Amino acid sequence: MYVGAIDQGTSSTRFMIFDRSGSVVSSDQREHEQHYPGQGLVEHDATEIWQRTQECVAGALKKAKLKAEQLSAVGVTNQRETTLVWRKSTGEPYHNAIVWNDVRTADIAKELEGGKGPDRFRSKTGLPLATYFSATKLLWLIRNVPGLEEDLKKGEALFGTIDTWLLYNLTGGTNGGIHVTSVCNASRTLMMNLKTLQWDETLLKSLGIPKACLPEIKSNSEVYGHGAKGGYLEGVPIAGILGDQQAAMFGQACFSPGEVKSTYGTGNFIMMNTGTEPKPSKNGLLTTVGYKLGEKEECVYALEGAVATCGSAVQWLRDQLKIIMDAPQSQILAESVPDNGGMYFVPAFSGLFAPRWDSSARGVFCGLTAYNSKAHFCRATLEAVAYQAREVIDAMGQDSGVTLSRIKVDGGMTANDLVMQFQADIIDTPVTRPVVPETTALGAAYAAGLAVGVWKDLEEIRAQWKMDKQWTSKMGNKEREKYWNGWNKAVSKSVGWEGPST
Ligand code: G3P
Repeated sequence: MYVGAIDQGTSSTRFMIFDRSGSVVSSDQREHEQHYPGQGLVEHDATEIWQRTQECVAGALKKAKLKAEQLSAVGVTNQRETTLVWRKSTGEPYHNAIVWNDVRTADIAKELEGGKGPDRFRSKTGLPLATYFSATKLLWLIRNVPGLEEDLKKGEALFGTIDTWLLYNLTGGTNGGIHVTSVCNASRTLMMNLKTLQWDETLLKSLGIPKACLPEIKSNSEVYGHGAKGGYLEGVPIAGILGDQQAAMFGQACFSPGEVKSTYGTGNFIMMNTGTEPKPSKNGLLTTVGYKLGEKEECVYALEGAVATCGSAVQWLRDQLKIIMDAPQSQILAESVPDNGGMYFVPAFSGLFAPRWDSSARGVFCGLTAYNSKAHFCRATLEAVAYQAREVIDAMGQDSGVTLSRIKVDGGMTANDLVMQFQADIIDTPVTRPVVPETTALGAAYAAGLAVGVWKDLEEIRAQWKMDKQWTSKMGNKEREKYWNGWNKAVSKSVGWEGPST
């Protein structure tokens, strides 16, 4: 028995095939272009994303010498919040998708506060008003694409996050494609009520968004439809949809309240399972849906700390500063010096997300002297990952009252020993990597497999989680304190750099 997972991330798309033991059978990955039309603007061509998705599916099936009909189910996991609108009659997007880390909507977010502050909708949605979430991006599209508002009202224009777009195309597009999203993706739009798990009419009214354009909200694990005739997944049940961070939490088997995972991708996303009641945050975290495994099942909630810039800062060292050739070289250079040489880097390229939510912040390097070399630039960039994670973990401790026994980690940067060790040092908590590091795709496969009976229950999945490596702190309190103070000083230089309208 095999289960496939489409993992549509910010930088690339993958299709992975797993067997019943949760081991990887085959994988194919393609990058898509990042469009940066201006300062702080990030867009994706959704048509290219659909094209890459199909190539990956075909590629992984070919490598595994499998036919689509041998897949028991396919799950979809996606970059969340990224927003697009397409025409029902042609299936064509009206505009490039506006990516989650694009900051063009700072003014719209401010305006939506209506004098009531950024937490105006927090009690209903679990989210602050920030550029990050889909509603602000949809409003930008409404204001900037001629005729769109009318089409949205008529139901001719369909709104979706990337899961919605993929499900629509996988199930036939203009030829009967379904218009659905998952409850965890919907919980990132600022339009869903966390308690009812439905679009909230009052919120929609305050936002000025017509309900007719919104997809139907479904659970994370059920058969939504089947791969369309003539497609690479013809006839295969599409049976799981999880936002990528929720998928990673699921793939990490964080099924009990208090369990935490941290994923290092373009950004860094730390999530704690908080059980079947939404837990409000007083410390800048997001209250969000973790998962809901079937229409009638209970919803499990999570607290999340989203950090906008993580792997993308290393990419920036490579592509913009050109001081490294590839990501592993950042570790080699960083290890060539004994410490940060007094340098700190706050990579606030998209402002600061959790727990500060400050869209006025911008990136700063601090503490430079003529002694510093490109090795220190690399070291400061990598160390920033750990400092940002600590800010979130500290907030999580305050919100939940839970003292963590460990943090389960996944994503590309877990291959970087320096980052993992420094993170264990700065947070003073063990950091644990599983044997199968592709937990995002695995989580989506689990959700799909559960819906069709490939896996029986969560206990069976939990038993498949195996530890590969653990890092524990080697740093004394005094040294930890020194670094932490340096970081906080650097952050104070980064905030307030930009006003919302510059
Ligand atoms: O919320 C944004 C997140 O889902 C993006 O994840 O892994 O593509 O950086 P990633």
